[in-house]
Amino acid sequence: MANKKIRPIITIDGPAASGKGTVTKSIANDLNLFYLETGIFYRAIGKLFLVNKKKNNIKIFLNSITQESFFIDKANKQELYNEEVAEIASTLAKLKEVRSFVLAKQLEMLKHYPNKFKGIILEGRDCGTVIAPNADVKFFLNAKLEIRAKRRHQQLFKQDKKTMYEKVYMELKARDDNDISRKNSPLVKAEDAIEIDCSSTDIEETIMIVKKIIFSKLPNFI
Ligand code: DC
Repeated sequence: MANKKIRPIITIDGPAASGKGTVTKSIANDLNLFYLETGIFYRAIGKLFLVNKKKNNIKIFLNSITQESFFIDKANKQELYNEEVAEIASTLAKLKEVRSFVLAKQLEMLKHYPNKFKGIILEGRDCGTVIAPNADVKFFLNAKLEIRAKRRHQQLFKQDKKTMYEKVYMELKARDDNDISRKNSPLVKAEDAIEIDCSSTDIEETIMIVKKIIFSKLPNFI
């Protein structure tokens, strides 16, 4: 039997609004990698939680989630990108029951993503530490809170979702606090991750920097 080529695993972790989603999507497209957006699982659970009536027992709530209700496609994905869902996602992500429910699904995708892709790139908070600790290349993308808030504020403004900068700043700060201080799988840089501070580089420059490092770490990949 011919040797099956081992496909590389790349992880990009970092706080909210650090640009990791845009960077990961762009690199996945350019290099034909499967894009695993790990936060979307928590957002989907958050959305189901908001509409669920029996919320007092987390185990019963998780058991009530069917494959159909958890199905995420292009059509319903957009409903998951708002502050109400982001906030409940961040709160539920603290619970170990929720984390192990989500982790099982993420590991399943890590193992069985389609053959047409040359590798996989994961983006989130615990990709390099918990989901794929053996990843080939790990990044931790960061930027100062004020810069992230300014960028998020401008992005919302462009989408006609006008809001105060101070409100965006406070919401991001609350999410950082949740993500960093939780007991289970907190947002932390993996020891072997390469940290990139993109406070003073724009998104195109950041993509270039990340790509260059991938090529230097995986010379046989291109
Ligand atoms: O990346 P995002 O903003 O879509 O993530 C939403 C929330 O999900 C985030 O505030 C914390 C949680 N999350 C997590 O705990 N672990 C991940 N790997 C990804 C997201």
